Amino acid sequence: MSTFRYAARRSALAAQLGKTAVAIIPTAPEQQRNRDSDFLYRHDSYFHYLSGFAEPKGWLVITGDGRTTLFCQPKDVEREIWDGYRLGPADAPARLGVDAAFSVAELDARMPKLLDGRDAVWFPFGIHKGLESRVDGWLTSLRARVRFGALCPEHQRDLCGPLDEMRLVKDVHEQDTMRRAAQISAGAHVRAMQLCARMVRDGQDVREYHLDAELLHEFRRHGSQYPAYGSIVAAGANACVLHYRADTAPVRDGELVLIDAGCELDGYASDITRTFPANGRFSPAQRVLYDLVLASQDAAVAATRAGARFTDPHEASVKVLAQGMLDLGLLDANKVGSLEDVIDKRAYFQFYMHRTGHWLGMDVHDCGTYLEPSELAQASERKDALTGETIIHRPARVLRPGMVLTIEPGIYVRAAPGVPEQYHNIGIRIEDDAIVTDAGCELISRGVPVRGDDIEALMRA
Ligand code: GLY
Ligand code: MN
Ligand code: MN
Repeated sequence: MSTFRYAARRSALAAQLGKTAVAIIPTAPEQQRNRDSDFLYRHDSYFHYLSGFAEPKGWLVITGDGRTTLFCQPKDVEREIWDGYRLGPADAPARLGVDAAFSVAELDARMPKLLDGRDAVWFPFGIHKGLESRVDGWLTSLRARVRFGALCPEHQRDLCGPLDEMRLVKDVHEQDTMRRAAQISAGAHVRAMQLCARMVRDGQDVREYHLDAELLHEFRRHGSQYPAYGSIVAAGANACVLHYRADTAPVRDGELVLIDAGCELDGYASDITRTFPANGRFSPAQRVLYDLVLASQDAAVAATRAGARFTDPHEASVKVLAQGMLDLGLLDANKVGSLEDVIDKRAYFQFYMHRTGHWLGMDVHDCGTYLEPSELAQASERKDALTGETIIHRPARVLRPGMVLTIEPGIYVRAAPGVPEQYHNIGIRIEDDAIVTDAGCELISRGVPVRGDDIEALMRA
């Protein structure tokens, strides 16, 4: 592990906070699953971004001069026999490039001293349960010493702001990790499609969990630590449930399967969705809707480039989808009016109710503001045509090279009066991961086919 990368991030952060600041960043707590079993441990993303350290119970304290103190689990022969290796404070400076390291048991005793003489204390707001009261406790201890010359910080500031900005633009190393994560996930989608076609052809009882197992196998086989989020494997009408999870439902010949799954690799997420015919051949109605969603994704991809707004791909998708809904009779122009009316009044919401993308990075819905920081003052109010609520509109983020986002339009047709029957219960989403470049974007998840003919060819193979 290059300790330099993390030291450089800590210095860059410290330089933004100012010489007299101090920042406190805990890692994630271990989470009980039931009785004495924990969920598989996952570090906190901010903590890992600044340390590369994945053990639980860690704390970083970074002062404005860039000096970093780590608190970590002490070496403990007995506990290491049960739970595994611990780095320990003695080896931490050499291994992690921090300036000093202590046992986490010393945190409460040492923290007031680290806060002494600082003007502002920064920590992530609203993320770690109980952190605010711990900071209060340390400040109270320090205040008890003002008679002896201690100087208490006057300001508490949210560390998420500066850290989110740093994490939003991915460096070369992060982009490389994300390419590899997306490549593994794409391979897993390929395998799931092929397994599905083979099992359906052989007349086997295919269940959603068979495909889920195939994804997991491929993720782990390539060194991914875990799925980046709960995999969605939705057969037939289940695809219309946006947060469906892989379950026991049968995957039937003639139905579509929607898989939204991506692995996490070395702390970075991938997030891919493909929708394919269980038997390897789209029906005409399925293909018409599939090609509409694909055309809307093509439009969104074309709108993704440095200098564009975060909302541009969404608006491009919506335009194509809304026109398609009118052309196919999903929406009745006599009732909903023109394309502009459908967009203005959000009539397309009946079949497309989510946004076309989100930031992607260490977290699948990664941190980073969706508004342009330099234009926050330009707020305007308008009434939402669908809900009647007053919405405050602020200019969307301007895309820059190195930002990573998903592009994931879809269409979800629930049975309803006036909706052509051949489209009932079809749910389709197509999702790819894009690194913004000057000229456009690099789609890093295209190791799995996306064109209808290519999916059919793959499933025949
Ligand atoms: N899999 C979560 C998402 O697509 O946003
Ligand atoms: Mn997504
Ligand atoms: Mn997804």
